Amino acid sequence: MTKPRILSGVQPTGNLHLGNYLGAIRNWVGLQDSHECLFMLADLHAITVPQNPADLTRNTRETAAAYIACGIDPKKSAIFPQSAVTMHSELAWILNCHTPLGWLNRMTQFKEKASILEAPEAHKMLEDKSNSTLDALTETGRQLNEFCALTPDLKGSAAGTEMLAKLSKVVGLLQKEFLLDQTNKKNLSKEISKRTDAAQLGLYAYPVLMAADILGYHATHVPVGEDQKQHLELARDIAGAFNRAYGTEFFPLPEPLIIGAATRVMSLKDGTKKMSKSDPSDLSRITLTDDADAIAKKIRKAQADSIEGITYDEKNRPAVANLLTIFAALSDSTPEAIASEYASAQNSTFKNALADLAVEKLSPITTRMRDLMDDHSTLDKLLKDGANRAREIATPIFEETQKMVGFLKV
Ligand code: AMP
Ligand code: TRP
Repeated sequence: MTKPRILSGVQPTGNLHLGNYLGAIRNWVGLQDSHECLFMLADLHAITVPQNPADLTRNTRETAAAYIACGIDPKKSAIFPQSAVTMHSELAWILNCHTPLGWLNRMTQFKEKASILEAPEAHKMLEDKSNSTLDALTETGRQLNEFCALTPDLKGSAAGTEMLAKLSKVVGLLQKEFLLDQTNKKNLSKEISKRTDAAQLGLYAYPVLMAADILGYHATHVPVGEDQKQHLELARDIAGAFNRAYGTEFFPLPEPLIIGAATRVMSLKDGTKKMSKSDPSDLSRITLTDDADAIAKKIRKAQADSIEGITYDEKNRPAVANLLTIFAALSDSTPEAIASEYASAQNSTFKNALADLAVEKLSPITTRMRDLMDDHSTLDKLLKDGANRAREIATPIFEETQKMVGFLKV
């Protein structure tokens, strides 16, 4: 029986971190015997945001070295730069022609990267505020009218004039407030369309390219971190749309494999934010190139809280819960078990233990990565072999796709 096929990848954008390791790469290692595996360096995805060319080349090699250092065996799995197999871009074009814009408009990663993720929330806040200003204005206006109608005698008196002036002033202030709300709403809309217009087409089409990566190999399983789930669902929808359009079941619907004890590792500086390559603070993440001192320092400086003792409470103690999740993932345990082990420990004792564990687990990877990076020619040869293997799988599938679409073969 043929093994089910797996495809996954990481963008070679540098700063490969503990989240990439625990949420993705480490989980690929155990799949290599039971599956036919393709692991790419998603360089086409990387250029959806500006990249320095020399850094992209270096980071592509570094990410490949990380795969191998983490336990991906190039003899078992094809490791290759995405751009080396032209099918990815070519199939993406065909799939672009089967993907409604409405589907792409739902992608939260695009909104996040185009800096418009919070736009609907900001819009709602302004809308609520302007509604309550309008309510207050209507109510004050009503009172003013009532006052004038009910107390015609009082109107001419000194007290009446004073009262009228007061109410009119409130109405004036509220009117100003309301106009300001309207201006703020207009400015927000302008800012959103400015940012949307400035975002690159590639960033928007990114999930279609990702569908091509997967469908182009007929991969059935895709191991990724939690954040890629929405893109996987879109890949399934696109496969379905293509199949329906040509009355076939040519593209299998891929399943996400969200495995491991840490599918969402959070920033060390903010337990409510994802650990990310692009966080401006280097202290927010542990990278696979950090040495032992850097790892220990970052964990000691990691956000915790002032509550005594260690408990696992994701909702109320997100920063501590994140450290427990990392501890559990690195020691093949559960956050609850680690929490009970350190229940009465001080933060510093717990952090020291975590720092020792992280250094023990990550140092061999860092060392191996450095060795691999010292020998470009061996590394490049491995990637070339990987690309050849990937191409062998992709070519017949892509040729069949072209035939289905009706392209004349010359
Ligand atoms: P990226 O860094 O966006 O190229 O992601 C590469 C892989 O790492 C994907 O499978 C992501 O889901 C996974 N990943 C990225 N950040 C995290 C994180 N903070 N926690 C867990 N997995 C992550
Ligand atoms: N978009 C993924 C990320 O940023 C990387 C990626 C590109 C990928 N193509 C893929 C992952 C195909 C799995 C399958 O993490």
